Amino acid sequence: MSLQPVHRIGRFARSVAARAPDTADTEWAHRWLTSAEQRLFDRMPVVDRAHSIGVARGVVAHLDRIGTTPDDPDTLWVLAAALTHDVGKSAAGLGTYGRVVATLSEAVGGASMARVWAARRGMTRKVGLYLQYPELGAELLAVAGSDERVVAWAAQHHEPESSWTVPVEAGRLLAAADDEAL
Ligand SMILES: [Fe+2]
Ligand SMILES: [Fe+2]
Repeated sequence: MSLQPVHRIGRFARSVAARAPDTADTEWAHRWLTSAEQRLFDRMPVVDRAHSIGVARGVVAHLDRIGTTPDDPDTLWVLAAALTHDVGKSAAGLGTYGRVVATLSEAVGGASMARVWAARRGMTRKVGLYLQYPELGAELLAVAGSDERVVAWAAQHHEPESSWTVPVEAGRLLAAADDEAL
């Protein structure tokens, strides 16, 4: 797994400017989540909540274009996945500065260092945890009782398509929305 340094540092500028989702945005997001997922969502930092809502809105806009309603039982999980895919980031407790440090650390030390760093203390531990955030997020969502596709997407959303267990069309839609490529 790679957190794509250039892409992520590009997002740094946006995260500095991120505004808190307003009440209407939050209520809209909650519509697609179970109460346990809502609690996980609300614990995310502003930047992650704003990003996740942006991804979910991108998914809805696409579904609209192809004539599918997000309320369809087969697509409901896609919205929950969009809103929770980055939820593991909050477990590391890193702010924007720390996330940049983590991303650069991975570029310098290699992704395999994440577990070593997570076993240490202080900032090094937080960096290690952050780099493992997809797995952490999947564990949080499994404990929350989420749909198995929602759990899988949190774990797999930075993996190549060949290792996805979610339906590939939905994964492509979620990945494109995550990259703001819709
Ligand atoms: Fe992510
Ligand atoms: Fe994301």
